[in-house]
Amino acid sequence: MVSSRLQQRAANLRSEINVHNYRYYVLESPTVSDGEFDALLRELQHLELKYPRLLSPDSPTQRVGGRPSEKFSKVAHPETILSLGNANGATETRAWFERISRLDDSVRSADLVVEPKIDGLTVVLHYENGIFVRGATRGDGDVGEDITPNLRTLRTLPLRIPANPDVDQSVPSHLVVRGEAFMYKRAFARWNHRLADKGGRLYVNPRNAASGALRQLDSKLTAERPIALLCYGVIAAEDFDVGSQWETLEYLRKMGFPVSEHTRHFTGLEDTITYCEEWAEKRDVLGYEIDGMVIKIDDLSLNLKLGVAGKDPRGAVAFKFPAQEVATKLNDIGVNVGRTGVLTPYAILEPVEVGGVTIKQATLHNFDFVAKKDIRLGDRVIIKRAGEVIPYVVRPIVDERTGQELRYRSPGICPSCSEAVNRQTGEVALYCVNGGCPEQRVRNVEHFVSRAALEIDGLGKRVASQLVGSGLVEDVADIFFLTEAQLQELDTFAERKSRSLLDAILVSKQRPLDRLLAAFGIRGVGAVAARALAERFGSLDALEGATPVELQQVEGIGPSIAVAVEEWFSRPRNQQVLRKLRAVGFWPKWQPASEVELGPLAGYSFVLTGILPGWTRRQASIFIEENGGRVSSRISSQTSYLLVGANAGVKLKRARSLGIPEIDVDRLRSLVAVASEVD
Ligand code: IVH
Repeated sequence: MVSSRLQQRAANLRSEINVHNYRYYVLESPTVSDGEFDALLRELQHLELKYPRLLSPDSPTQRVGGRPSEKFSKVAHPETILSLGNANGATETRAWFERISRLDDSVRSADLVVEPKIDGLTVVLHYENGIFVRGATRGDGDVGEDITPNLRTLRTLPLRIPANPDVDQSVPSHLVVRGEAFMYKRAFARWNHRLADKGGRLYVNPRNAASGALRQLDSKLTAERPIALLCYGVIAAEDFDVGSQWETLEYLRKMGFPVSEHTRHFTGLEDTITYCEEWAEKRDVLGYEIDGMVIKIDDLSLNLKLGVAGKDPRGAVAFKFPAQEVATKLNDIGVNVGRTGVLTPYAILEPVEVGGVTIKQATLHNFDFVAKKDIRLGDRVIIKRAGEVIPYVVRPIVDERTGQELRYRSPGICPSCSEAVNRQTGEVALYCVNGGCPEQRVRNVEHFVSRAALEIDGLGKRVASQLVGSGLVEDVADIFFLTEAQLQELDTFAERKSRSLLDAILVSKQRPLDRLLAAFGIRGVGAVAARALAERFGSLDALEGATPVELQQVEGIGPSIAVAVEEWFSRPRNQQVLRKLRAVGFWPKWQPASEVELGPLAGYSFVLTGILPGWTRRQASIFIEENGGRVSSRISSQTSYLLVGANAGVKLKRARSLGIPEIDVDRLRSLVAVASEVD
């Protein structure tokens, strides 16, 4: 039996968390700190874990994702989920308006509502007595797929309405809402970056990425992906007496659904068209992609009267923007070599402007794409740009061929090392399997020192190629053997720069096991898998001896990652890396967080600047890390202290602008001394 007191507490927590979620994600004005919010969520999770009967489907704890389902079951929509007819520009929009005015004269004086036409995918959201119970894709318009657990992971989707209990709005017994799920352009770029780091296939555009995310069988995978939502319609409802589209939007907002802030209400078609044309010009200012505006007759009963043509309601139209597509000449096809040796083709183009940006290169996805589309050197090709996202080649314009174009043959050898390339069965990618390939080495070094891995500041793309090109770095472990004299021989490496790079390298040797594992760039082993492996095996020695079966016992490690780990350790080249790491003493053992946090500086991060009296940078960094603190070279709002010495420059300025406290060497030492005495 669960006491009513606990039930009440769980209900209060749920509603409190829902309100904070709503304030944070929808209103973007939170009233509690992240820490306070986490504490509420943890308390609720704890209660639900202890008393599973307290768990309810609208619990915000369910956003983290549930168990994988076998396959999606079908959901019959309460009404057909209609599509939209298109109008290209003002003339076709006027023609649409004229057509429907002839059907019903009252259209001529009707009010119109305009909304951005989000380039995402329709979702249909069912609420029973205010609780989100089911969500589906559009499917064929009559039957969609049940993706409820996946939709629950969307942060802005209210699990209970009204999301804010203080809102004066009665709870409908039954409500079905239509919205668009999509990905912000930045989030999409970041997500693709993550995929690229893991050596995975990239998504072509945010729409496909969002669709892929919502079709995951395991909602945990959806939860990791940044999916956004905007709602714009009510499909079916009880206790809902709203007569216009404008009021529908207001109602949805009041209930706590995310609704676009760029919706407008007009009387007369011409102002409506002007508004659409304005957006055609400035579509890029939005953080997400829109491919037009939707114009809707405001009066819902007039809409109903106008009826549908096929699956398109007559009372609404999509004012389509001109596609951000242009034609240009394909001058050549270049080939990139990735960290794992994957070769990818890219188009080298006659420069051309698309949506205000000059484009010289575009992706060609992979060699199969080039072959399937029969893209030839010298072809005129269609280029498409989707917002900030990298432009891509859509197809060649076959009709414009002159006969001078050359068929393209995918490379038989790697453009960097000239070794023969391989195609692995079942994969479309071509690989350079030469582990000594210089381009791969550069990419490996880049990954090894990146922020998610060992975070060695001052070692960017340029320096990575310098180090590999000069022969100083053959594999990633060689970084730890670099000397000041060697660095100073490189171009643009003065004394100061060499020393600060060596300091950063030294500091990186303190990084924990999981960061080192992630730095190796083993296929499928990103931050999460690396941590799980580090926790379970504790050291590189243990991990090296693990069999695929043992590896798979770790949560999140499937057969392909297990095999990749085993293979990585078995390769002679990597064995050499390991020997070198051992030789330089970078051989971390996993320490549970509580042990690491024992130091008096645990939880604090420091940035160093200026000349520190009595200490080199290196000594200061070691002192801080040995006492449990973290050292970083970049100031952010997360920095706890700036450790300041003489002649401090830009960092001090930046720290002051962010309000970050300053501390000097003496105070730091006495802080640690006092804390140690108290212990
Ligand atoms: S209204 C009966 N409004 O565009 C009304 N659709 O090309 C039919 N879309 O399938 C749709 N933003 O997925 C409407 N503000 C908006 C929209 C929108 C995006 C999508 C929707 C639809 C597609 C039609």
